[in-house]
Amino acid sequence: MKALVKQHAEPGLWLVDVPEPEPGPGDVLIRVLRTGICGTDLHIRSWDTWARGAVSTPRVLGHEFAGEVAALGPDVEDIAVGDLVSGEGHLVCGRCRNCLAGRRHLCRSTIGLGVGRDGAFAEYVVLPAGNVWVHRTPVDLDIAAIFDPFGNAVHTALSFPLVGEDVLITGAGPIGIMAAAVARHAGARHVAITDVSDARLEIARKAGADLTLNVSEHPVAEAQRRLGLKEGFDIGLEMSGRPEALREMVGNMTHGGRIALLGLPAEEFAVDWSRIVTSMITIKGIYGREMFETWYAMTVLLEAGLDLSPVITGTYGYRDHQAAFDEAATARSGKIILDWTG
Ligand SMILES: NC(=O)c1ccc[n+]([C@@H]2O[C@H](COP(=O)([O-])OP(=O)(O)OC[C@H]3O[C@@H](n4cnc5c(N)ncnc54)[C@H](O)[C@@H]3O)[C@@H](O)[C@H]2O)c1
Ligand SMILES: [Zn+2]
Ligand SMILES: [Zn+2]
Repeated sequence: MKALVKQHAEPGLWLVDVPEPEPGPGDVLIRVLRTGICGTDLHIRSWDTWARGAVSTPRVLGHEFAGEVAALGPDVEDIAVGDLVSGEGHLVCGRCRNCLAGRRHLCRSTIGLGVGRDGAFAEYVVLPAGNVWVHRTPVDLDIAAIFDPFGNAVHTALSFPLVGEDVLITGAGPIGIMAAAVARHAGARHVAITDVSDARLEIARKAGADLTLNVSEHPVAEAQRRLGLKEGFDIGLEMSGRPEALREMVGNMTHGGRIALLGLPAEEFAVDWSRIVTSMITIKGIYGREMFETWYAMTVLLEAGLDLSPVITGTYGYRDHQAAFDEAATARSGKIILDWTG
């Protein structure tokens, strides 16, 4: 089968023939239909410091996908050949304290699909049945392909109650944009989102943000002023990984405000901890999705009319992976989809 592989320990990706994976006991073989390109895949393509430490070659990339069940290994129940599925890309150990307690998203030995084991940028992928989410209600294929980052957005946005609250999102990448759509849909009073890219802020506006602010031109306090806030934002969702974004967020929260951190900073940095203490701010780190509460929430949000279509801004056949990755790397686009059916 064809697969997009990190073949050599150097920048680049290679579309090559690899053996089709076989489902063992408890496994599901999935024919991949669509995949989403993630920042993680861009890191692996450019072979930066993180990628060199996290990935050994050869490795099939990709963790955001939708596909059709092609075959089942022994001992798989409740999944049928032909089901439309997405995959939870965090494979957990099942044996640590959190796994045994049913808190699988807190597993201390998580392995990432397309990072620590072969992924979904291929015509077929194998996953343990416990990582397979069957779409039992109709869902657009492209949206099904981005359930993984959609789940990051939902997990973060619904970390704290936001009905009637004023929400600040820093970073209008695909996940920040989806978080804005979720916060709007879930009943926030105001949803403000910041970025340094006008193109991305425009996508966020289409997805439902009430106020967009380019922080290369204005401080976040300007967003407060325009919304008529008097005491600061109630909820902060940090989705840029940038030190200055978190610092600005902390400086614009109300007393008792709550911040969920999804953005992954490249290195350590300083923030005003005394402000966090005296403003009594709660900070919560978010990694991945809750298995499978977040997945349930995603499905029902879509059923209830959440529209994510603005976030998808490009679709390419898998053979055009280079152009697709280049567009994703511009940091001006929304989600870029690869179609594996052509
Ligand atoms: N914790 C997790 O499980 C998890 C999972 C996926 C992604 N992530 C991280 O979440 C973040 C969002 O993911 P994404 O795919 O949307 O990333 P992305 O890189 O596409 O988006 C980040 C956005 O932040 C913007 N930005 C840069 N400086 C800014 C500033 N000062 N203020 C506001 N915005 C600024 C960038 O222009 C970009 O649009 C990334 O940091 C990513 O590494 C974390
Ligand atoms: Zn991803
Ligand atoms: Zn575990």
